[in-house]
Amino acid sequence: MRFQRILGFVILISAWFPLSSARRPACYTRNFNTIASIYNFTIYPNQLPIIAQATNSNLSIPQIANLFSPNVTGRVQDIGNFTDFRTSIEYFFGLAPVPRAPTYVAFSAFDLTQFSSDCPSVAASTVYFTTAVADPSRPDFGKVLTYLKQSGFWHFDEQGRVDYYDLWIPALQDFSSIINAVDYDQRIVQLLVAKQVCQGAQKVCTGANTQYKKSIETDLGAVIAGLKLDPLLNTSLISQLELTNLNDGELNCFAQLSKKPFGTFDKLWADSVACRTVHLILAEVDPGVHCPHVGPTGGGKCVDYPYNNRLFDDIPLFGEKYRFRCPHD
Ligand SMILES: *[C@@H]1O[C@H](CO)[C@@H](O)[C@H](O)[C@H]1NC(C)=O
Ligand SMILES: *[C@@H]1O[C@H](CO)[C@@H](O)[C@H](O)[C@H]1NC(C)=O
Ligand SMILES: *[C@@H]1O[C@H](CO)[C@@H](O)[C@H](O)[C@H]1NC(C)=O
Ligand SMILES: *[C@@H]1O[C@H](CO)[C@@H](O)[C@H](O)[C@H]1NC(C)=O
Ligand SMILES: *[C@@H]1O[C@H](CO)[C@@H](O)[C@H](O)[C@H]1NC(C)=O
Repeated sequence: MRFQRILGFVILISAWFPLSSARRPACYTRNFNTIASIYNFTIYPNQLPIIAQATNSNLSIPQIANLFSPNVTGRVQDIGNFTDFRTSIEYFFGLAPVPRAPTYVAFSAFDLTQFSSDCPSVAASTVYFTTAVADPSRPDFGKVLTYLKQSGFWHFDEQGRVDYYDLWIPALQDFSSIINAVDYDQRIVQLLVAKQVCQGAQKVCTGANTQYKKSIETDLGAVIAGLKLDPLLNTSLISQLELTNLNDGELNCFAQLSKKPFGTFDKLWADSVACRTVHLILAEVDPGVHCPHVGPTGGGKCVDYPYNNRLFDDIPLFGEKYRFRCPHD
């Protein structure tokens, strides 16, 4: 009898103070809020004021000063590594979509569906970004197209700011295909994307940042022949490409990029057209840093890195192999 009464009392107490929350360390809440705040700044249009400050010469961005260490560095599979504050914040906020043709989507909400943090310096999370039509002038404004998933580990400095991250975005090829409403496996799509990258690169990368110059060896006939297209047999594809409206620099760029593999958004750390589409978005934010990545050599980013380096070069990036284990584990 007495035992039962004590048990009843314990059950009552734990209803008032749920055990799960009583056992949750203080760092759990602090780190959860830090990650939630970071992701909240990727929700359109919250990223815009951050991006506007990305090229501050003093790298002071007050809104995120308590979220990221000035020395933050990390990687996002399979996009690349971002080895300082500037490129890290350009990754987090510069790649967050802004509404553009044809679908006008951006992140409209985020949900931290998985989260754990047992010590102040480490947390693991998974986020789902709701991706919806975000331009209020569109008739389907608010319509949800899909979600983007990102999982991984975070490391925090003594002030609770992120100083290292190791994250992963699965199935980015499918995501890109849905939000851009195209099938990247089609040759015409691949060529049109290469053309778009060239027009974008020539617009964004100018002056000392110019990547593709006029070349006397490039003429339209040679470019079409280089594509293994027959001007008589492949007229429909050739007319869809509308290469005649490219200027000399754009045509030289197209001559070079159309010879490279299109690649896939699931492996962007590669000498591909797909890699350059992503780095073009970053070049729009920060041409000085990112224009070489859209250029002919890939600038050390859009280059073919071996599997072993892409996934396992932890020590140069994180200083040690066990960065994301709680100390003494
Ligand atoms: C997210 O950001 C918006 C706009 O700055 C703010 O109003 C909102 O409170 C933030 N939400 C969270 C969960 O941080
Ligand atoms: C850094 O740059 C920002 C924006 O240009 C400015 O508001 C801030 O005062 C600068 N900080 C210092 C310490 O110079
Ligand atoms: C950032 O790195 C520099 C050079 O490695 C170091 O002197 C500085 O203390 C670091 N700052 C923080 C906040 O960790
Ligand atoms: C060009 O036309 C030929 C003959 O119709 C066809 O076999 C070939 O697949 C076409 N090339 C492309 C890239 O569509
Ligand atoms: C980052 O990746 C580049 C390749 O893009 C590689 O050369 C470099 O060593 C990596 N840096 C670190 C610190 O891991």
